Amino acid sequence: MSTTDGLTTHLPTGATASVAAGEVVSDPHVDAEQVVVLDYGGQYSQLIARRVRECGVFSELLPHHVGAAEVARRRPKGLILSGGPASVYAPDAPRLEKELLELGIPVLGICYGMQLLTTELGGEVQGAEVGEFGRSRLTVTEPGRLLAGLPAEQTCWMSHRDTVFAPPPGFTALASSTESPVAALESTEQQIYGIQFHPEVVHTPYGQDIITRFLEEICGCARTWSASSVIDDQLEKIRTQVGDGRVICALSGGVDSSVAALLVHRAIGDQLTCVFVDHGLMRKNEGEQVISAFRDHYKVPLVAVDAEERFLGRLRGVTDPEAKRKAIGEEFIRVFEEESAKLAEGGARFLVQGTLYSDVIESGGGTGAATIKSHHNVGGLPDDLQFELVEPLRALFKDEVRAVGAELGLPERLVWRQPFPGPGLAIRVVGGEATRARLDTLRDADAILQDEIRRAGLYRELWQSFCVLPDVRTVGVQGDERTYGYVVVIRAVTSDDAMTADWARLPYDLLEQIASRMINEIREVNRVVLDITSKPPGTIEWE
Ligand code: XMP
Repeated sequence: MSTTDGLTTHLPTGATASVAAGEVVSDPHVDAEQVVVLDYGGQYSQLIARRVRECGVFSELLPHHVGAAEVARRRPKGLILSGGPASVYAPDAPRLEKELLELGIPVLGICYGMQLLTTELGGEVQGAEVGEFGRSRLTVTEPGRLLAGLPAEQTCWMSHRDTVFAPPPGFTALASSTESPVAALESTEQQIYGIQFHPEVVHTPYGQDIITRFLEEICGCARTWSASSVIDDQLEKIRTQVGDGRVICALSGGVDSSVAALLVHRAIGDQLTCVFVDHGLMRKNEGEQVISAFRDHYKVPLVAVDAEERFLGRLRGVTDPEAKRKAIGEEFIRVFEEESAKLAEGGARFLVQGTLYSDVIESGGGTGAATIKSHHNVGGLPDDLQFELVEPLRALFKDEVRAVGAELGLPERLVWRQPFPGPGLAIRVVGGEATRARLDTLRDADAILQDEIRRAGLYRELWQSFCVLPDVRTVGVQGDERTYGYVVVIRAVTSDDAMTADWARLPYDLLEQIASRMINEIREVNRVVLDITSKPPGTIEWE
């Protein structure tokens, strides 16, 4: 994107965060054939890296200021410059380091990336009267190397105000669009390519073809990488890191901790102990499913702690959501520490974390050694726990973790599990105390919702689907009796990454079936409503 005026709302949902202002993002994976994406702050930068990986080429996203040496250290076969919110004319706009063009590898600039290349190399970029946001018509005038074999007319997704009016000397203009005289350009001699539109979003139907052409035809990539190809590599790395040390893993039943635990178990077997803390805030039968998958099926040493009483005790009288989170987080740490200390030979030295590449990117990089993820998916382990981290998923995006999980034989139910907050159902009992009775009502309602959504074949399409139980009762009439029961809220959203979300348009018949089952099967419930708020302005959870 290249606009400074807050027009980001014109972008489709599914926008992703860009690299924070950190330094080096991670240990380079110099052994894999890869293409580096430099992030100029565009909303889709992560998506570019994901698309490159989908083409079978490993890709890392680095902040634009890392420097050519850091890029060169990875020995990439190509370089992609992302979009970004700045205007190339803004005084503090990120610049292009000239050395990046001297690495001897092909460079593709997307949106701001193309404008940057154009200005630096002597072409003409101007702020246009009219911006170009959303779908646009692309006319290919000269396919060149980048657009060869693609239709002369196609749709593309644009998001820019500054516009390229003339390519730099020695470059060929390849295409134009409604508002862009030069919408694509190249110089095969200099190995530099640029496109004004966003090939990484689904709204550019030939976008993936263009990325593939760049990777295969231009960079000469073999395209052999896959998420599951990292398994062998990781097994070796885990063994080297932990030697014969003891390793502990807080298993939540979520896909990240499950896949991380399985991978580590495959590497070092029973040196690993998983701890599953059942805080009584899980969904119906969830605890049993986790225990049966890991202990009974995979034979992973698993300590399952039934801590429902402890947690509900801590939550007594607590109504404020942040206070609930804090109480649950603290109690979790206490239970986890107790269990860890019980392990033989003075406890574990290593802690497995299901940190993902998006966490690495969003926390601004870091070299990964010291900080325990502050995200809440293990219940909020604090920084001062004395463990060395084992993070086998650090280079992977969520969908890739799912692929690894499937490859390791994790049941579909776990592989495709929707995200579930660490503090569980406690933060879905809204405006009141999370008592056992309310949690049971919510659990029953949630089980009906999940059952119907799965039966309708919609579970995977939804980012999350769940129920909320406000501490509100309303009047109803059932049979000949007046009732005074709870309201259940249905919340179902589609999203790519939880940063933005849209309320899911569930079919009316399905909604009716869900509502009538809830009211018929759960005595405490006499009304069901649907939340039709997107994010923004709402959030996904209610608290
Ligand atoms: P919101 O409600 O902010 O949620 O739109 C974004 C994503 O984060 C999850 N979420 C949490 N996860 N502990 C968690 O582990 C929490 O306290 C928490 N609060 C929100 C939420 O389910 C959604 O996927």
